[in-house]
Amino acid sequence: MSEFCIPYRYETYFTTDVFAPANDVLWRALQGGGATMPARVFFVVEEELLQFYPDLPVAIAGYCRAHADAICLVAPPLLQAGGEPCKDIAVSLRLCEAFLAARLCRQSCVVIVGGGALLDAAGFAAAIFHRGLRQLRIPTTALSQCDSGVGVKNGVNYLGKKNLLGCFAPPLAVINDAAFLRTLPPAMVSAAAAEAVKVAMIKDREFFAWLVAQASAIMAGDLAALAMMVRRSAEIHQRHIATNGDPFEYGSARPLDFGHWSAHKLEMLSEQRLSHGVAVGMGMLIDCRYAVLMGILAKDVYTALRALLRSFALPFDGAVLELRDAAGRRLVMAGMEEFREHLGGQLHITLPTAIGAKIEVTTIDDERMNEAMDLVLRDK
Ligand SMILES: NC(=O)c1ccc[n+]([C@@H]2O[C@H](COP(=O)([O-])OP(=O)(O)OC[C@H]3O[C@@H](n4cnc5c(N)ncnc54)[C@H](O)[C@@H]3O)[C@@H](O)[C@H]2O)c1
Ligand SMILES: [Zn+2]
Repeated sequence: MSEFCIPYRYETYFTTDVFAPANDVLWRALQGGGATMPARVFFVVEEELLQFYPDLPVAIAGYCRAHADAICLVAPPLLQAGGEPCKDIAVSLRLCEAFLAARLCRQSCVVIVGGGALLDAAGFAAAIFHRGLRQLRIPTTALSQCDSGVGVKNGVNYLGKKNLLGCFAPPLAVINDAAFLRTLPPAMVSAAAAEAVKVAMIKDREFFAWLVAQASAIMAGDLAALAMMVRRSAEIHQRHIATNGDPFEYGSARPLDFGHWSAHKLEMLSEQRLSHGVAVGMGMLIDCRYAVLMGILAKDVYTALRALLRSFALPFDGAVLELRDAAGRRLVMAGMEEFREHLGGQLHITLPTAIGAKIEVTTIDDERMNEAMDLVLRDK
């Protein structure tokens, strides 16, 4: 027998004003990749960011000039429209063409500046070009800074299926720049809060208490508190991916998807009227109410969760939950089988047993789940 065993390592840095010439985080992170110096770097920047940061391309070019010993900017930053429509194989392939035109080689690094969708699409392009270039992520939404941007997944939507094409590609580094959080609309802060509450609920009691104490400040625009929420959430997400023994998701258990089996379905049933964050909040409440009914969670935890979600402006929107088929069965219940199919193998649903503690269950009592939904709708 011969063995193949290699470790992966990358850092998530937390900083402010990453492109200020005096900020050393980016060029130090690029040095960590083992590429010949100066690192050949290509930037993909989310075009919509220019509404808020019109000088971004100039700041990037200035930063690279100021650190010319460490960074060689091989082309002007490429501007690419972001958001969900950019998660398209055609966009990833166009980016590969731009990489070719810029003569990127296996010593090059693609730096992606944008939201989770652009990170997914451009990260995928970087991961397939020349069998994978180094990629450094600079997430600019609170959600991508505290969840999607710090992980190892890339992907685009295809044949009407979300993330059908993609790959696992650990980045060279992730840089979370708190300055980008200044321009986020409240709904995008709420969306990130839903994922922060999720990890707190299943992994970190202290963080949950901190969120309860800070929610109103965060929603009132306290940037330091928002940056702290993002940081704690990113750390917990990343620690989970690094230490749970399944970073490339071969198994069927996915604790970070707590509350998501119904959330994905609710988003779809609402025709995207419900945001991912609001749907995740609803999904967590439903599963917690079910856990209370099953006698594994104290009711006051459910009540505390409900109050916390409200303070992050994540309402419970009952109308979608009441959509039923001709036999009177709630449409959302189909989400359970879709979730199992997506993960493959046996059904695994994560249920909290206390704040900061969880179990995985492999069967769900449909009748009890329905009852839980009735109760969530009735609870005020
Ligand atoms: N790879 C993963 O592990 C993973 C995990 C979870 C989610 N995701 C993906 O992430 C995507 C969602 O990402 P998202 O929530 O970051 O949204 P997004 O990428 O769709 O961005 C939404 C919008 O935010 C705006 N924006 C970006 N930065 C901004 C800023 N600093 N200020 C103001 N506006 C800004 C942009 O106009 C953009 O169009 C989904 O496609 C989802 O599938 C990936
Ligand atoms: Zn989510």
